[in-house]
Amino acid sequence: MSHQSRVVALSSRLEQIAALSETPDGIFRPFASPSAEACVQLVGEWCRDAHLSMRKDAIGNIRIHDPNRSGAKRKFFMGSHVDTVINAGKYDGVLGFLMALDQLEQKRDCPFDLEVVGFSDEEGVRYGTAYLGSSVLVGNFDRDLLSKMDDLGISMSQAISDFGGDPCALDKACFGTENEFEGYLEVHLEQGPVLAASQVPVGVVTAIAGQFRCTLCFQGKEGHAGTVPMDHRKDAGLGAAEFAMSLERYALSRSHEMVATMGKWTVNPNASNVIPSEAKVSVDLRSSNESALSQGIEFIKHTGTEIAEKRGLAFSLRVDQMNPSVPMSDELKMRLATAIASTGQPPIETRSGAGHDAAILSHLGPVAMLFVRCREGISHSPEEYVSSEDIEVAMKVCDHFFEHYE
Ligand code: GLV
Ligand code: MN
Ligand code: MN
Repeated sequence: MSHQSRVVALSSRLEQIAALSETPDGIFRPFASPSAEACVQLVGEWCRDAHLSMRKDAIGNIRIHDPNRSGAKRKFFMGSHVDTVINAGKYDGVLGFLMALDQLEQKRDCPFDLEVVGFSDEEGVRYGTAYLGSSVLVGNFDRDLLSKMDDLGISMSQAISDFGGDPCALDKACFGTENEFEGYLEVHLEQGPVLAASQVPVGVVTAIAGQFRCTLCFQGKEGHAGTVPMDHRKDAGLGAAEFAMSLERYALSRSHEMVATMGKWTVNPNASNVIPSEAKVSVDLRSSNESALSQGIEFIKHTGTEIAEKRGLAFSLRVDQMNPSVPMSDELKMRLATAIASTGQPPIETRSGAGHDAAILSHLGPVAMLFVRCREGISHSPEEYVSSEDIEVAMKVCDHFFEHYE
């Protein structure tokens, strides 16, 4: 099949998966949801047609291999995630998963078995903690997470069972000792503007930024919006608001090495004429610089406590996620650079501010990522777009990468 036909097939699959959503308008396919199950079923049909073997593991990861080629001791993984953020684009995660499936369908001889994975949770939208799928694969899943509740009061343990998984058998989904881990390659849209600005279709990722996610809770006193004088209030919402402004100033003064986001706010009782008694807010802090990340975490703890004390509020902080910055493998980067050069493109390097399953797979051994240019660097938005021409370049890079792997 020509590259063009393969890109047409991949794009058609991309559209079919994009149609699987919890919401009628836009894409929202969270972990272990009915639309995630529909995605598993759809991929299962494609695998049957391609004579590939697919299974859903205990956390709901889609695991695919070629039954006619298994047997090598070394194992190479390729994939990305199939869950999405709310009102997502089509490409985040799914592009890398489909690119991996396309590679497996080439059924070429390699010195290792290729396994394709569609990770069931990378975004962490449903339970506020990312990488559930990949952490199970590498064997460092934190079982305490199983009691976490989603916004509807469904525990993670229940969600996994409802999805056909098995919270008691998560260790069985791990990469076992019967194989040697050869490496992991993830293709992903860049989600930033560097490749577009450099006018190149693809780039080699050098490192994935570290990320810290937590939930802050400010607690004050409910009261009547019309009667309680301003200087008698314990407004939890204002505590969170003051904190947000301080964090913005802090991150702005270090914008060369840090980004901070407060994307989820829950204010109670959430009525326009009642003083908020509680504000729960998420903080997502990212940096490739370990010491900047640690200082940022200290700032969050210290400033939250200080603002709460000043306003007579109670304050607590729950850590939801802590992942250090992860460098990509020098050897795999070199192989990618050679593959990019073979397509006539300059192998430029770039860092990833976004988190990726590759960060977790690095616990097993060498990992690499190939970024694909996206329009205006837009992602986590329905406006996400990657051109077919750029997908074709990425496909040729992957072909070369595996064809020349000894
Ligand atoms: C995943 O997209 C993340 O970086 O939050
Ligand atoms: Mn994402
Ligand atoms: Mn992603």
